[in-house]
Amino acid sequence: MCGIVGAIADRDVVPVLIEGLKRLEYRGYDSAGIAVINDRDVRRVRRTGRVSEMADAAAAEGFDASLGIGHTRWATHGGVTEANAHPHISHGVALVHNGIIENHEEQRERLRALGYVFESQTDTEVIAHLMHYHLKQGGDDLLAALQHVVKELTGAYALAVISRAEPERMVCARMGCPLLVGIGEGENFIASDVSAIVQATRKVIFLEEGDTAEVTRESVRVFGADDQPAQREVHVSDVSLASLELGPYRHFMQKEIHEQPRAIADTIEAAVENGFSPALFGDKAGSVFEDIEGVQILACGTSYYAGMTARYWIEAISGLPCNVEIASEYRYRAAYANPKHLVVTISQSGETLDTMEALKYAKLLGHAHTLSICNVPESAIPRASELVCYTRAGAEIGVASTKAFTTQLAALFQLAVVLGKIRGMVDAEEEATYLEALRHLPGSVQHALNLEPQIVAWAERFAPKQNALFLGRGVHYPIALEGALKLKEISYIHAEAYPAGELKHGPLALVDAAMPVVVIAPNDALLEKVKSNMQEVRARGGELFVFADQDSNFSESEGVHVIRTPRHTGVLSPIVHTIPVQMLAYHTALARGTDVDKPRNLAKSVTVE
Ligand code: G6P
Repeated sequence: MCGIVGAIADRDVVPVLIEGLKRLEYRGYDSAGIAVINDRDVRRVRRTGRVSEMADAAAAEGFDASLGIGHTRWATHGGVTEANAHPHISHGVALVHNGIIENHEEQRERLRALGYVFESQTDTEVIAHLMHYHLKQGGDDLLAALQHVVKELTGAYALAVISRAEPERMVCARMGCPLLVGIGEGENFIASDVSAIVQATRKVIFLEEGDTAEVTRESVRVFGADDQPAQREVHVSDVSLASLELGPYRHFMQKEIHEQPRAIADTIEAAVENGFSPALFGDKAGSVFEDIEGVQILACGTSYYAGMTARYWIEAISGLPCNVEIASEYRYRAAYANPKHLVVTISQSGETLDTMEALKYAKLLGHAHTLSICNVPESAIPRASELVCYTRAGAEIGVASTKAFTTQLAALFQLAVVLGKIRGMVDAEEEATYLEALRHLPGSVQHALNLEPQIVAWAERFAPKQNALFLGRGVHYPIALEGALKLKEISYIHAEAYPAGELKHGPLALVDAAMPVVVIAPNDALLEKVKSNMQEVRARGGELFVFADQDSNFSESEGVHVIRTPRHTGVLSPIVHTIPVQMLAYHTALARGTDVDKPRNLAKSVTVE
């Protein structure tokens, strides 16, 4: 969703702001803008649409400045218009904002009564006017004004502010939305996401909830929620520039699909080297895991499907009961809470608001132990969790999650085995088998990637369709769900997934010659059942597209297309079967000419409700 970048330097910062905003594009946005301080004046350019259009406009107007802020906006309060785009300006004070101000209406009334005139429908403009109001009251100090203003706001915000009266500094604040300060040589930066400034510096300070900061060329001063100076650690980010660039690929989604063997190998590296140790989940994990009697998983979107898959593993391997729930549902119901049930949140970004709020709610309900499976170091959810396991997928840019999902699965499988070992449910022989399966996983995923040419041929058949049905059983049912989600997200084909046994209870009514039915049919204990379900489809004229393991004895016939995935990989088969459904969605979207990396209406990081 929205993104922030700010810079103060001895050089022209406009290219830094533009490049930063381009690197934030992946989060999803519908307008963009920058404001700079130039000759004691604020200049601003905003555009709906792409950052490149806004950048062209800035170039045409000859923007050049050593202090500036920029923003990509994903509309919440007010439509997608230039007037609603950030930065918002009030009497020479310009600011950008991520998050939602809940008391904006009340503040708007108050400011209107004071004579302020509003040009936009946003909650953000309220903050700009409040800044000006406090500057007038309190002696023109930008930082003091910001510290006053944030105390009058309820809701979530990351803010960056500049003023024509103070060309030597920018100030910022964080509550509920990520914000960091980047430290350069004689130049400093503000960003909502390290990828926005990684071209300039890797040294970053992650602001904490309630922090404000003052950033000049030479210094960074951070203040805690009590406005007193606060010490914050300087981190060196390991996000690489290469991970943010396309290289030889056409889309980030394609690149990220192909990165999966490496991403999985990195994620399982410690387990492969040292075995299934609780330490994979943090120093305290051993004692926590010994204390638990069940698992409660909370997540959204693709991460939720990772959780659904994990449930099969956790219950089968560790014998612990495992519940999985969509975070946005969990947070609003009187859920059963057992303090001895470990709350596991799964989130690629680590900042999905619903997942974060569900985590807070779970703690409120009395859950004593929390574990975050996350891909972004130092993001909000792991920071709020007792235990953390970082997947090592690297930056994921495509809105539709791919490598984050399979690395989450790899991490969750490790969790199942570690819990099983602690509970005496996994003996040495079984552990060795699981380790062997893990070792072979990157290779099996690579084999699945080699199916791409056959999948391209299928995608041509899918491209003209309006609907598609995905079927799977057992641990492969969540993979069918993920396949349907990928297809709808990026190709806009309506797709649904069902456990194959449920077909006859409703969805079979939809099946006719126009309905492609994708079947995930690994060579496991449920294969014969799946075959019967397929007969039910064929008998109604439905066209079957079957992903079958090499050793599962399937043959093509009229209306039955078969792609052979690698030999059955046992317990990790869901991970291998994810690859072809991802590629099917990707190539179908390509054939339909949609914007694969930035599908309409969707955002990568969903930081609003
Ligand atoms: C958005 C993304 C999805 C993602 C979901 C949860 O909807 O587009 O790809 O699965 O958020 O995000 P998280 O970062 O918490 O995994």
